[in-house]
Order: sequence, then C-alpha cells, then structure tokens
Amino acid sequence: MPRVIYNTATTLNGFLADDEHSLSWLFVVPGADSAESAFSGFLTDIGALVMGSSTYEWILEHENLVEHPDKWSYRDIVSFVLSSRSLPLVAGADIRFRRGDIEEIWAELVDAARGKDVWLIGGGDLVGQFADAGHLDEVRVSVAPVTLEAGKPLLPRRIESDRLTLVSVRQSGQFAELVYTVGRGSAH
Ligand SMILES: NC(=O)c1ccc[n+]([C@@H]2O[C@H](COP(=O)([O-])OP(=O)(O)OC[C@H]3O[C@@H](n4cnc5c(N)ncnc54)[C@H](OP(=O)(O)O)[C@@H]3O)[C@@H](O)[C@H]2O)c1
Repeated sequence: MPRVIYNTATTLNGFLADDEHSLSWLFVVPGADSAESAFSGFLTDIGALVMGSSTYEWILEHENLVEHPDKWSYRDIVSFVLSSRSLPLVAGADIRFRRGDIEEIWAELVDAARGKDVWLIGGGDLVGQFADAGHLDEVRVSVAPVTLEAGKPLLPRRIESDRLTLVSVRQSGQFAELVYTVGRGSAH
C-alpha cells in the first residue's frame, strides 16, 4: 500500500487560503521561494497526487495552464482531481477527473502510484474524506507566520492525540515544518 501524505503550507491558525482562495499571504513570507525549491525532493517519492477542484482551478489560473500546458509541474505524477463538474484539461498531462467516495477511486489510486507515495495537495475537506476512509498516513505542515480572520480550513475533522503523533519538527527560515503520523481508525 502507498503511504498517503498530506503536505501543505498553512497559516498559524489553520487556513490553506483566504476566503477568496488567495495565497498572497504565503508568497510574501521571507524564504517562501527556497521552501518551495526544497519541496522538489519530496516529489521524487510521489507516484500519484490528489486535489479538489478549487485547488486545481487555482493552479490552472495561477499558471495560465490552458495556454501554457508546459508549465504543469507534475508530468511524472498521475494526478487525480475530484470534482462533480467538467473542468479544463491540461494538454499532455495525465490528469484523471473523478467524483464520489474515496473507496471508489482507491484501487485506481494505489495502482497509479506504482509503489510510490500518494500526495494529498488539499483542500482540507478532501483530506478529511481520506481520513474518514482510513487512508491518511501522514500530515506534513509548513506553518507560516501568518494569521487570517477566516479562510479555507486545513483539516476540518476531529482527529485527537490518540491518532496523531508528532515525529519531526524543523525550522526552515520563517516556516515551522511539523510532521505527524496518523493512526488508523475513523475520524469523528
Ligand atoms: N496553502 C497551501 O499550500 C495550499 C494547499 C492546497 C490548497 N490550497 C488552496 O486552498 C483552497 C482549498 O479550497 P477548498 O477548501 O474549496 O478545497 P478543494 O478540495 O480544492 O475543492 C473542494 C471542491 O472539490 C470538489 N470535491 C471534493 N471532494 C469531492 C469528491 N469526493 N467528489 C467530487 N467532488 C469533490 C467539490 O467541488 P465541485 O464538485 O463543485 O467541483 C468541492 O467543493 C484552494 O484555494 C487552494 O488553492 C492551498
């Protein structure tokens, strides 16, 4: 079975993005660029990734991918986008649009990962769906020195300390990188 890893940046108070889906607060953190380049090491162990439609639409727009499909960063990674809608495709990329329960796509996801890890990009509820299904193994967060009044939640589930174990703490510039393993069982 692949390890399923949620790896993301977050505000100190647990938001992935503001209410308008903006990440402007993240890009202005000193050292955000070097944190991003260190991230490429993480990607070498990833065989498949999963994201929700808001995240996909943000990437499409941010990188202008419909006009510049060559800017798609995940050429060697099978990418799953969960959505109930029809969304634009990035030419030449292996992007699979799926909907419904995580269990319905699980076998295909395991197969696509080819023995490597699965990266959950987000958003938070999507990761919660994997936790609900017992398919979340690790949470890696880079905590930015930012708070927001409101926004898109990091992981809107109740998962208590009997299931979350802190295994590593590292400072990377202004970011605190925390790694937790997630024990099996259903999220509340
Ligand atoms: N800070 C970071 O590093 C970071 C990381 C990740 C994301 N982000 C940002 O955080 C925000 C997250 O947005 P979000 O909370 O709206 O989450 P999201 O997961 O990106 O999108 C949620 C949408 O995905 C679709 N979806 C999710 N699960 C589904 C399922 N099982 N079946 C079918 N469709 C499903 C639904 O929309 P439809 O069915 O209508 O398509 C749902 O409303 C984005 O702006 C993203 O850019 C930031």
